[in-house]
Amino acid sequence: MSVPSDREGSVDRRVRVQGEPVDDYPRVVPEAARGTVRRITVVGEPVLHRRCREVTEFGTPELARLVDDMFATMYVAEGVGLAANQVDVDLQVFVWDCPDDQGVRHVGHICNPVLDEEPSGSRRLVESDEGCLSVPGPYAPVSRPDHAVVRGFDLAGRPLVVEGWGYFARCLQHETDHLYGRLYVDRLTGRRRKAVLREMAERRDEVFARRAARAAAPRG
Ligand code: NI
Repeated sequence: MSVPSDREGSVDRRVRVQGEPVDDYPRVVPEAARGTVRRITVVGEPVLHRRCREVTEFGTPELARLVDDMFATMYVAEGVGLAANQVDVDLQVFVWDCPDDQGVRHVGHICNPVLDEEPSGSRRLVESDEGCLSVPGPYAPVSRPDHAVVRGFDLAGRPLVVEGWGYFARCLQHETDHLYGRLYVDRLTGRRRKAVLREMAERRDEVFARRAARAAAPRG
């Protein structure tokens, strides 16, 4: 894939919606404006720790509503990605509104995502702080490849390929992990994991209060 560029030959900074550059896009996506905020599940709830079911029925109002609600929920919680089992729905769907390391904003949803296996020789691992809306409060360094390609389908069942670098690649991997029942804390050493969960226990009430306040505020 070639890197899109403008006349000066620098990075194309246009927003990527479903992987495609668009000239203009609202700060709050239309899905979020339609959606209703749902409760976010927390580490320990079974739905987060098992593989989600594949989407088999596309183009339904229920699936569209799920994506709307996931965007609304993600914004209230100030997240950059959210998986369906984080709103207690056992389906392979995730959404994102996430910057990459060049400051390009990526927005979209995907069903039944599968990550391309990258040959280990060409992988570049980067360690960076990661957090999760289902582990409210803490962040911890996690090592991941700095490039990711996911293949899946959109709401209507059309094939979709999304490619990410840097922080957005991290997001694509983190959210795909969720749909296979894996949280980022599962990638930490036992000791580090315990420390993260301890910090979560101390900070979760404060995070929940902040989300509740944002949910109650008018959306702009
Ligand atoms: Ni997460």
